[in-house]
Amino acid sequence: MKKVFFVLLLQSIIAASFAQSENETISIIPEPVSITKASGHFVLPSTINIAIDENKDLQMIAETFQKQLSVPTGYNTIVNDKTKSGNASIILSINKTKIATLGDEGYNLKVTPDNITITANKPAGIFYGLQTLLQLLPKEIGSKTLAKNVKWEAPCVSITDYPRFVWRGLMFDVARHFFTKQEVKDFIDDMVKYKYNILHWHLTDDEGWRIEIKSLPKLTEVGAWNVKRVGYFGTFSVPTPDEPRNYGGFYTQDDIKEIIQYAKTKFVNILPEIDVPGHSLAAIAAYPDLSCSNGVGNIGVASGESIKDWKTHTALYDDNLCPANENVYVFLDKVLTEVAKLFPFDYIHMGGDETFKTFWEKSDAVKELMKKNGLKDMDEVQSYFEKRVEKIVESKGKKFMGWDEILEGGLAPNAIVMSWRGMQGGIKAAQMQHDVVMTPTTFAYLDYMQSDIMIDPKVYATLRLKTAYQFEPLPDGVDAKFIKGGQANLWTEQIYNTRHMQYMIWPRALATAECLWSQKGKKNWDDFTKRTEANFERMDQQQIKYSRAMFDPIFTAKKDANDSLLIELSTEVNGLNIYYSFDNSHPDNFYPKYSTPLSVPKESVMLKVITYRDGKPVGRQIDMPIAELKRRLKLKPDAEN
Ligand code: ACM
Repeated sequence: MKKVFFVLLLQSIIAASFAQSENETISIIPEPVSITKASGHFVLPSTINIAIDENKDLQMIAETFQKQLSVPTGYNTIVNDKTKSGNASIILSINKTKIATLGDEGYNLKVTPDNITITANKPAGIFYGLQTLLQLLPKEIGSKTLAKNVKWEAPCVSITDYPRFVWRGLMFDVARHFFTKQEVKDFIDDMVKYKYNILHWHLTDDEGWRIEIKSLPKLTEVGAWNVKRVGYFGTFSVPTPDEPRNYGGFYTQDDIKEIIQYAKTKFVNILPEIDVPGHSLAAIAAYPDLSCSNGVGNIGVASGESIKDWKTHTALYDDNLCPANENVYVFLDKVLTEVAKLFPFDYIHMGGDETFKTFWEKSDAVKELMKKNGLKDMDEVQSYFEKRVEKIVESKGKKFMGWDEILEGGLAPNAIVMSWRGMQGGIKAAQMQHDVVMTPTTFAYLDYMQSDIMIDPKVYATLRLKTAYQFEPLPDGVDAKFIKGGQANLWTEQIYNTRHMQYMIWPRALATAECLWSQKGKKNWDDFTKRTEANFERMDQQQIKYSRAMFDPIFTAKKDANDSLLIELSTEVNGLNIYYSFDNSHPDNFYPKYSTPLSVPKESVMLKVITYRDGKPVGRQIDMPIAELKRRLKLKPDAEN
């Protein structure tokens, strides 16, 4: 009887521990192709033995991982040749027989009570398997210091995973505001956690030239420096001649080599962007004869002044290189010789966006060029320029890439198009059998606000997390082989420091990562928001700032039957309670709970709203003037802001 009881007890303990594992929440971003949970855990021993195949890349990957483990755990971590290893905790191994479905970046990850094994066709796959493993370990694994009282274990699980797209990019604009070498490395560290593999480095613009070109020293002596202004970029006054031009910076070629080498250890390719012919005030400040107007009337390197009229597409200052000046092509040849030598990636991005033709239209040299080459309009002039630039890029052994404006007036023969003004440019280029990277403003612009303008720093547009999550890089009816993938873009006009940079990236770049890595059928908004929340706790450990905008209330102004204001409140995340006040006091969860659209009490001037879950505030309180809602209703009845 005793024996039967003991067996039953044992069975129920096993069942309970199995149920515990089965129910344990696994929160991996981007969502893997398949996850099979099993019972139990692998508990990290106090000496962690990472066993690897003899392979230089694996050695490097394992040594990096070793550091990631040893700081927070305080455990002794060693890397061993597999043949010598006895009690391996973590085994990293390259498949002798390649598994086709895994491709170059996929992996299999198995956690059992005895050990953890990651296998892949290539080292990149092992690297991504380890990024997943980090998300299986307790969140304190991201701690920058020793984390005490943590049970260092990973749930037993079997994961098969590989990316949907080969191009998974994040663009970092270091031209509008300069970010240091260390900040760029930190950016790379953060992006690879979510399996991004391309850093699109926007190195030149009106506000700064950030890459040392040894044959053209003024580009950085002059072009890297402007006048520091804070406030709303695009509205600043033109600096007076006595204001010091000491704000900015640049990367020496040694810095760039160091960053490229660093990125390589994280399986990140760096795509350099030299943005021409527009967005070139910094280059023109250094070498004024590069513009058709010889720099006459120009303002030097821009410092956030209004330099363009966006409504009429008119340039207020000439920030274009001159397509009719042969010296411009000599200049670009010099720049590209050095860029091509520095960057191992196959592609060079040559910009091409927002080239307002105001000063080209006034130029006799451009008129002459048009006559000589039978160019009928300004789009064809830009196309003439782009085709010549493509030839220079190709002469350096690289592939030419540009923003979708390069389609206008005729696409250069081998150009790769980065589609940003929606998906249309990308679709057109793919139909013309050109390779495409999708990065539409509608889903992928991380410089836009992510919450209401009443609480987020003002930018001219909004991209909410939920919209970012709806990014589908492969449009229906387009041949998949031309869509290389996509990326999210972080322009930094309004980003003055790294904390705000992080706030703007996360969590929207989590959404983009999932849109680019995970299988389409795996996407699930509710599940993603839960995993994102779990990731916030990881980011807290890693001291990374992020936005909690997904919990904020959303205001929609409507009209009732009497044409009076009716206010709809909602949230992006499901399952939140919304509380409000009209009497200027701060609402909490004892205030009225929102259920149906609200009419405004007579003479009330302010609606204050906050979201709660399980009796705790989760979103930020937003104070919304009634006058602002009335303004929105009148101006843009359907707009959020
Ligand atoms: C762009 O956003 N101007 C490419």
